[in-house]
Amino acid sequence: MRATARARANIALVKYWGKADAGLNVPAVGSLSITLDSLHSETSVEFEPTLECDTLTLDGQADAAALERVTACVDLLRESAGIATRVRVVSRNNFPTGAGLASSASGFAALVAAGAAALDLSISPQALSILARRGSGSAARSIFGGYVEMHAGSRDDGSDSFAEPLLEAAAWPLRVVIAITSRDRKRVGSTAAMGVTAATSPYYPAWLATSAADIDSAKSAIGDRNVAALGAIAESSCLKMHALAMSSSPPIIYWNSATIACIDAVRALRNDGVGVFFTIDAGPQVKAVCVTEDAATVADVLREIPGVVDVIETGLGAGVEIC
Ligand code: PMV
Repeated sequence: MRATARARANIALVKYWGKADAGLNVPAVGSLSITLDSLHSETSVEFEPTLECDTLTLDGQADAAALERVTACVDLLRESAGIATRVRVVSRNNFPTGAGLASSASGFAALVAAGAAALDLSISPQALSILARRGSGSAARSIFGGYVEMHAGSRDDGSDSFAEPLLEAAAWPLRVVIAITSRDRKRVGSTAAMGVTAATSPYYPAWLATSAADIDSAKSAIGDRNVAALGAIAESSCLKMHALAMSSSPPIIYWNSATIACIDAVRALRNDGVGVFFTIDAGPQVKAVCVTEDAATVADVLREIPGVVDVIETGLGAGVEIC
């Protein structure tokens, strides 16, 4: 009744933003991501008959806010197994939690994989992806490694809203250089921000209308192993997502001045012939994606930018695994 799983964070190159069904956590648009090797969550789940309620320890501390979401996800596993036993969940991230580094993606992917293993449920990776999605939309993608596509799906019950692997990490081993510009937790969580955006941004209909074409372009760029083409679509998708947030009422701005300085630096590197592009999730950190040979140059440049407090370099990694 106990298992531990490790799942890695992922970053979307074509972003998900907005929900078709908030209750089932079905995204309004598909997305496309890369799974990162060095950023992981390790989560132990123990079903313990003597417990009166679920407990969660996250990075060494009880976390009541996250516990609600964990319980909702574990309830789905309990339902499949036909049990009501409470769980003790202990999870640790080897990177800052809740700061726009996809800790909910790796965390929920590890949670459902460990929970299913603890209960000995025989469950397909696709079904695991659906379960992870209920915890966090981006977690559906962290079940898989390398390049991953998330389908928004069209069924009312969310049964066709899951991720699937597109290409193994080793087939095109890009590197990601992450500039940490703040270690603070983000002020507006992505679920709340998506709700405000969908309700108030005048650009939301255009976002919905252009997402499928963005995914198609990104898939062709990956097929051609074309960094410039993938970068053009990834930067466009990222800037569209942040433009949605900024054009909401009240406006949501995730960036700080170092975020913008990093964007400028990536564009300057590109003008100098370095094949690099940026993406930014719901936080101020900038992820620069490039080929292996350019990673040291990119890291050196980002490290020197005032306001950058740390630089993490990583390759692409595997999907969730039971430890
Ligand atoms: O998985 P969530 O619900 O925390 O939302 C993630 C949203 C973005 O990271 C900004 C975009 C994405 O596709 O991962």
